Amino acid sequence: MRLTILGGGGFRVPLIYRALLADRAEGRVTHVTLHDLDESRLTAISRVLAVQAAGFDDAPPVSTTTDLTEALTGADFVFFAIRVHGLQGRSIDERVALDEGVLGQETVGAGGISYGLRTIPVAVEVARRTAAVAPDAWVINFTNPAGMVTEAMAHHLGRKVIGICDEPVGLGRRVLHALGVDAGAARLDYVGLNHLGWLRGIHVDGNDVLPKLFTDPVALVSFEEGRLFGAEWLRALGAIPNPYLHYYYYNREAVAAARAAEQTRGAFLLEQQSRFYTSLQSGQGSPYAAWESTRHEREVTYMAENRAAAGAGERDASDLEAGGYEQVALALMRAIARDEQVDLILNVRNAGTLALLDAEAVIEVPCRVDADGAHPYPTAPLPDHAVGLVTAVKAVERAVIEAAATGSRTAALRAMAIHPLVDSVTVARRLLDRYQAQLPELAYLRA
Ligand code: G6P
Ligand code: MN
Repeated sequence: MRLTILGGGGFRVPLIYRALLADRAEGRVTHVTLHDLDESRLTAISRVLAVQAAGFDDAPPVSTTTDLTEALTGADFVFFAIRVHGLQGRSIDERVALDEGVLGQETVGAGGISYGLRTIPVAVEVARRTAAVAPDAWVINFTNPAGMVTEAMAHHLGRKVIGICDEPVGLGRRVLHALGVDAGAARLDYVGLNHLGWLRGIHVDGNDVLPKLFTDPVALVSFEEGRLFGAEWLRALGAIPNPYLHYYYYNREAVAAARAAEQTRGAFLLEQQSRFYTSLQSGQGSPYAAWESTRHEREVTYMAENRAAAGAGERDASDLEAGGYEQVALALMRAIARDEQVDLILNVRNAGTLALLDAEAVIEVPCRVDADGAHPYPTAPLPDHAVGLVTAVKAVERAVIEAAATGSRTAALRAMAIHPLVDSVTVARRLLDRYQAQLPELAYLRA
């Protein structure tokens, strides 16, 4: 079975390779192709993978290419994990928004819109090429903003593109642990859009055990989301929000903390990652040790400003080591390839699951996965508090997809201005002007 990773020079590729090496089952991946536009990143990451493969006689061989058609030819699965304009683009997304006094974040608010506007045209081109070159391949989308990117790709790939994120799994794992419930026995009732969802029930033998958590003040703040949102707010919602909802529910505090910080997350990672890739080029030291210490530092500092603003303290050690995207992707790929019948929370077309949204809207919900792809479970309607946010943000995503498809700056302006975290059309217009001035990929947007 052949796996192609687009964005194959990316920092998280060794996590995927580690998961592949650990997969001993029949039908495992037997060849990995890494594709990237940047040859030197491919070389650097290949060196890390070579260290990982040492000692395994049957490690999947890895080849690299900068040619997209070559990468896609013969692929059974394609992992799509690119970052258009790299971390420099991310730091522009963040800085421009913060300078306008609104949230600067890579997937939420103005920054997410800017990121989507430059990513979707590339994602659509990749979707088209995949449909032409490898029509039987399944595409697993890691690329952020994952909800809108998956939806845009689904226009060309239908059910053969599935978006993933590690947040719902992480949240589920933490809440189950706080409740002392075994994951195998539980069915998670999670619903929303990517980075905009809520865990509103945990069903064990037909009973919802989540309400128990709200009556236990110690357990309720014993995990990341409890500390981030506070017991009172969790009780008020009667649900556990995805950590990214901190940017909405505590917007002032999140913006203030990000503005007060010395540098944005993107600027920090740009420096950190540049050091890593440069050190690998120099050929000194162990590539794997350099990668591992960089990864650890990245994990430790994840969402640091939000945690500081909430007084939430450090991340739990178990959250630093737990598998993220790679585990979701591998479980998804295995379930499709081997018809394993697994339940996963994924970004898929709504297809009637939520009456509030049309059939093509990509949502993030529990799905049954089999050889035929991901099928959302029937789910209860969104709670009242979520209706406004979900429909507003879906309208933003739709406007971004429209702008990317038509080149309409007006649609892009609409996306900016209707976002719940952008509070003025004047600000929205200025944001768009500034993003266009700094990001050449947005030159396609015209009146
Ligand atoms: C989580 C989110 C991803 C996001 C990542 C950012 O895993 O689910 O969507 O890309 O965090 O982490 P970073 O280290 O890049 O800030
Ligand atoms: Mn995510």
